[in-house]
Amino acid sequence: MRVLSGIQPSGSLHIGNYFGMMKSMIQYQATSELYCFIVNYHALTSVTDRERLARGTMEAALDFLALGLDPEQSIFWVQSDVPEVTELTWILNNVTAVGLLLRSHSYKDKLAQGISPSHGLLSYPVLMAADILLYQSEKIPVGQDQQQHLEITRDIAIKFNHTFGETFVIPEAEINPDLPTVLGIDGRKMSKSYDNTIEIFADEETLKNNLAGIVTDSIPVADPKDPERCNLFAITALFLEEEEKQDLADRYRAGGLKYSEVKKNLFARIWEYFGSARQQRQQLERDPDLVREILRAGAEKARAKALPTLELVKERVGLGY
Ligand code: ADP
Ligand code: TRP
Repeated sequence: MRVLSGIQPSGSLHIGNYFGMMKSMIQYQATSELYCFIVNYHALTSVTDRERLARGTMEAALDFLALGLDPEQSIFWVQSDVPEVTELTWILNNVTAVGLLLRSHSYKDKLAQGISPSHGLLSYPVLMAADILLYQSEKIPVGQDQQQHLEITRDIAIKFNHTFGETFVIPEAEINPDLPTVLGIDGRKMSKSYDNTIEIFADEETLKNNLAGIVTDSIPVADPKDPERCNLFAITALFLEEEEKQDLADRYRAGGLKYSEVKKNLFARIWEYFGSARQQRQQLERDPDLVREILRAGAEKARAKALPTLELVKERVGLGY
């Protein structure tokens, strides 16, 4: 099975990214044909600082590799190193209704934040459809927030196939039903764009500060607390086995629990959970050229897979003559 997903290099990767997408991608490489890439063209819709984008791209690559993505077993590259994806985007633009894009939640959310939208922002889901369809991908592991984008991709693929003849595989999203969207330290969705994240590889002090900032209620220590309504509990639970989760929930309900103690334990958990990956990352960081080499080789493999689809598409629509 061909499994594909991408991540934006618009800031440091966080535990929402890890549990929402990276963890299952890394697991898939043992059993599937895995395509994993860093979507820097997409990040252009929100990042205008070139240093930040370039650094973010390398950082995201380091993160994935350190967490266990094996470039021998999978195809791992930077989106803009296969620029054919923008060619396909243009072609797909012509089977995409503007109304479909205007209904996108993430577009509407940005409007609600008062962002003056660029054409790139509106067109974001078309580029994402091109990412997916160019490689005839079957399964797309993503977090819940990407569900609508996947539906748009399917709509575009179905419309294209209907108009020009069977061309694209219709992909399916894979969303872990047991993982609600991970919330950030301020209680909104954890996102690189909200400055509310718990980074996977933050240094000790930054991580402690991040955790100290997790918003909790002001119920007195001695009183019973409701774990179901506590974001600190939800975040901690990501790192616990089922039995440990039940124990912690019981302690919440019994009263006498200090949030500061839960935060201290959470720090220890996170530090240990990503411990060996952290060491791996420190080693890789010393050799940025090796990382660049891995990405270039990945792009070559990706391009070889992409070209036959693009040729077929061009012929289908009449660009071949
Ligand atoms: P961000 O919102 O931080 O910029 P991306 O849009 O790059 O994250 O998302 C990369 C992947 O991580 C996607 O599959 C997305 O669904 C998943 N993801 C992002 N934030 C979360 C979250 N808070 N909880 C669960 N999954 C998430
Ligand atoms: N839009 C996705 C996100 O923000 C990133 C992305 C771009 C993607 N292209 C993709 C995810 C293709 C899966 C498949 O998370």
